[in-house]
Amino acid sequence: MELKDRTTVVTGAANGIGAALARRFHAAGARVVVADRDAANLRAIADELNAVRPGSAHAVIADVSTEAGNAHLIGEARRAFGFIDLFFANAGVAVGTDLASTDEAMWSTAMDINLHAHRWAAKHLMEDWLDAGEGYFCSTASAAGLLAQIGSATYSVSKHGAVAFAEWLAITYGDRGIRVTCLCPQGVNTNMLNPPGTVQGADKRGGDVVKASGAVLEPAQVADAVHDTIVAERFLVMPHPEVHTYEKRKVDDRDRWLAGMRRLQARVIGG
Ligand SMILES: NC(=O)c1ccc[n+]([C@@H]2O[C@H](COP(=O)([O-])OP(=O)(O)OC[C@H]3O[C@@H](n4cnc5c(N)ncnc54)[C@H](O)[C@@H]3O)[C@@H](O)[C@H]2O)c1
Repeated sequence: MELKDRTTVVTGAANGIGAALARRFHAAGARVVVADRDAANLRAIADELNAVRPGSAHAVIADVSTEAGNAHLIGEARRAFGFIDLFFANAGVAVGTDLASTDEAMWSTAMDINLHAHRWAAKHLMEDWLDAGEGYFCSTASAAGLLAQIGSATYSVSKHGAVAFAEWLAITYGDRGIRVTCLCPQGVNTNMLNPPGTVQGADKRGGDVVKASGAVLEPAQVADAVHDTIVAERFLVMPHPEVHTYEKRKVDDRDRWLAGMRRLQARVIGG
């Protein structure tokens, strides 16, 4: 799908990958609704885009960790620009580590934002899209959703869920005009991978594993790969080609792959 004159919505658009996606879609000629709970940075992105093409961007301060938050966002986006051609569920969090240190609230936060937000958004978009016979749902999962996130059960599980949900949407609605694209990057240079200020040691070690596993890309590189995949209407965006090699090793021999992951864990964060 070419993005010129389309209406797009990007969540988590105040920072990192989401901001880069908003800029890339806008550069391709789309109207962009940027959404995030970080109001200050969000307004700056919308102002930046509107300075290029007045009236082409709209900011919605939204918390996507609830169904009501997603419904509010979709309602505001429609009020601003009408039919939503493409929705990008990109907001995500890296919270939670091992079983003992991750409480129920952390599990809920990770699952609500990294997985259920996608489901809630799709639920509130689908009726319009099926009536129109078209609609494009995109989500940011992670290479951790195809492989595993060493050190974080919450991230691993929620991102696997995000990939599974995107695949399910593509299978269920693909013959009724609904297109789906799922972004599965490894390391990207954002606040999530390189948090500003002090962070808990375990979170930083998770980032260390990601950095030890391959190249760290800039958000704009990832956004270019996403744009090209949307134009080609393909499912998977895998900006780190090494992830394909790791995934093939996993499918070929799970026990060998698990042993390799344990070795990586021991090398980077200790036994
Ligand atoms: N950076 C990486 O290495 C990497 C790798 C793979 C996948 N990802 C995924 O990419 C996506 C974007 O992350 P990023 O790296 O740009 O990190 P980031 O922290 O820079 O951006 C995440 C954005 O999501 C927003 N957000 C979080 N919870 C929200 C909520 N409940 N409601 C609304 N907004 C919310 C934050 O305010 C922030 O602006 C996430 O889904 C993340 O899991 C990142």
